Amino acid sequence: MKTLRETLKEAGEKKVAVGHFNISNTEGLWGVFKAAQSLNVPVIIGVSEGERDFVGVRQVSVLVKSIREEYDYPIYLNADHTYSFDRVKEAIDAGFDSVIFDGARLSFEENVSITKQCVEYARGCGRDVLVEAELGFIGTSSKVLDEIPDGVLLDESSLTDPVKAKEFVDATGVDMLAPAIGNFHGMLRGGVDPKLNIERTKAIADAVGIPLVLHGGSGNSEDDFKQAIANGVSIVHINTEIRVAYKQGLQIGLTENPDEVAPYKFLKPAVKAVQDVVEKKLRFFNRL
Ligand code: G3H
Ligand code: ZN
Repeated sequence: MKTLRETLKEAGEKKVAVGHFNISNTEGLWGVFKAAQSLNVPVIIGVSEGERDFVGVRQVSVLVKSIREEYDYPIYLNADHTYSFDRVKEAIDAGFDSVIFDGARLSFEENVSITKQCVEYARGCGRDVLVEAELGFIGTSSKVLDEIPDGVLLDESSLTDPVKAKEFVDATGVDMLAPAIGNFHGMLRGGVDPKLNIERTKAIADAVGIPLVLHGGSGNSEDDFKQAIANGVSIVHINTEIRVAYKQGLQIGLTENPDEVAPYKFLKPAVKAVQDVVEKKLRFFNRL
């Protein structure tokens, strides 16, 4: 079985991206896995602090590992947006393949200092755990938005600066970097977000020499993904579109079977809805 590091390296060489999809429960997990399996591509399951508290931190780790082993499948688990060293440590101790320390709202110096602590812990844990960091604020919530989130600015001077990004990566030793390149968490109502800044993406990728991670992928176009991936992005995160699909699937399951009380029956359309969204995204990311 390839490690996540090897999978990422291969994605970079092939100029494709590994899809990262957030889940809140086992319906989400099966929806994502079935989509990846149907296309035979690697996949990353993401759980934010709230999502993993809901499933159970150690429990989600065991669930993903069980699929990896039973199906001999490259499915990985990431501790998405983690805001403290203690919670990074908890995820590493629970067996996650990668962690994100999100210090985007901290000062540069504080962000460097806690990220470094996370990298040191990962390097000493006895497994190859990848550490990602965030530089540039891109909002926090995966939800349908009426406007661009407070504090997110899309003008060039507010995007991640390639020189600062290099300084950050050199100082921390992180494996992957999530920059602000015109992206933001959540999706504008109507489902179309502003275009990404591809020139800046390339400049950051060239400067740091490590894989970039595109967060806030919901609402971005196929063309944006194509160009971002061709210019240094090796992982793309999708959450809001999955949440919307899950909820719609759940509503269908409930309204079409008003007398059904077995969750494994009325939840089937929710799993299928997640699977369909993920499959569509994986096709773009893997150029299929
Ligand atoms: O970490 C999660 C992602 O960045 C999700 O962003 O909700 O805009 O798809 P999204
Ligand atoms: Zn994110």
